[in-house]
Amino acid sequence: MIVGVPKEIKNNENRVALTPAGVAEMVKRGRQVYVQENAGIGSGFSNEDYLHAGALLLASIEEVYGIAEMIIKVKEPIEQEYKLVRKGQILYTYFHFASSEPLTNAMIESGAVCLAYETVELDDRSLPLLVPMSEVAGRMSVQEGAKYLEKTYGGYGVLLGGVPGVPPAKVLIIGGGIVGTEAAKMAAGLGADTTIMDVNLKRLRYLDDIMPANVKTMMSNEYNLREMVKNHDVIIGAVLIPGAKAPKLVTRDMIPTMRPGTVMVDVAVDQGGCFETTKATTHDNPTFVIDDVIQYCVANMPGAVPRTSTLALTNATLPYALQLANKGWKQACQDNMPLRKGLNVVDGKVVYEGVAEAFGLPYTPVDSIL
Ligand SMILES: NC(=O)c1ccc[n+]([C@@H]2O[C@H](COP(=O)([O-])OP(=O)(O)OC[C@H]3O[C@@H](n4cnc5c(N)ncnc54)[C@H](O)[C@@H]3O)[C@@H](O)[C@H]2O)c1
Repeated sequence: MIVGVPKEIKNNENRVALTPAGVAEMVKRGRQVYVQENAGIGSGFSNEDYLHAGALLLASIEEVYGIAEMIIKVKEPIEQEYKLVRKGQILYTYFHFASSEPLTNAMIESGAVCLAYETVELDDRSLPLLVPMSEVAGRMSVQEGAKYLEKTYGGYGVLLGGVPGVPPAKVLIIGGGIVGTEAAKMAAGLGADTTIMDVNLKRLRYLDDIMPANVKTMMSNEYNLREMVKNHDVIIGAVLIPGAKAPKLVTRDMIPTMRPGTVMVDVAVDQGGCFETTKATTHDNPTFVIDDVIQYCVANMPGAVPRTSTLALTNATLPYALQLANKGWKQACQDNMPLRKGLNVVDGKVVYEGVAEAFGLPYTPVDSIL
């Protein structure tokens, strides 16, 4: 199997799908790996690092798509790449098909085998290739919250951890899943007085058991939320209802009740956001202000830390990539149920029900093509 790693060309995408360590693992197993020149630069990996690991370098993206039987990427192909994808070629990357009809149609027409990171699913229904990015965003949310609390950024001017004799800042985290848990660990580690709210009592019990003493838990409901937002310095939105838009939990009328200089970080922005006032922002211009309250709503937070994000992502994607490269997609998906769930579009057929439903396309059960 010939593996190809193109340089990401989506705006501001600095991650790369395979690190030199990943290349070395592939090469050790007898695979040939072609990496596009400078593919790793944004994540701190030089061309020499790849050569040293056993990769062969190619100058252009056309050459990589032209030679590879399996393409490993980070983001979904963008329009310029559609024509490069070949029939029978394996594409292993984030796709988020349901949010783009043109992409879905292009991949159907290509006849490629599209394995989407975001639908690889373990028996416990967790999504192992989404978790690393939630971990990054969760940890980053506190870092960003702390930054915008500084006076120069328009914040209330408090230090998250306080100092001896001065109480710490108060951090409210709405949603105690992956993002919320990682946010709580960071906030607590910095000494903040932290509260996690969730609707899942079992989850709250678990968090109460494992979190340090400066983390409290509270049931999430409108009454409690209305009270809590009044006196917190950083409010982090981290809820998810799988397959649905995020519920608008912090409403517009709650904002005037907050202290001026409060910072709201809506990590759930990629699902529409859990604050009524959320609108997606970018790393170039991450915040806006409503009633003296700062809102940070960057939809691809991990993009700011591509080195960490690349390492976190590839730690999770590489084991599946190795199976695909060693066995071919059919055998790998027959042997590995979580990976099988990653199949979305194969040889012109939509084999993931949610994608077929999203665009009213015919659905072919995945088992029938294996
Ligand atoms: N902005 C970014 O860059 C970025 C990066 C990664 C993830 N995300 C997003 O962050 C969000 C959270 O992801 P996750 O991996 O932590 O999800 P998760 O499923 O692990 O956790 C979600 C939690 O929200 C809780 N919840 C549901 N309804 C709630 C309510 N009404 N009040 C309080 N809690 C409620 C659930 O019980 C669950 O514990 C998702 O929307 C995800 O797409 C954004």
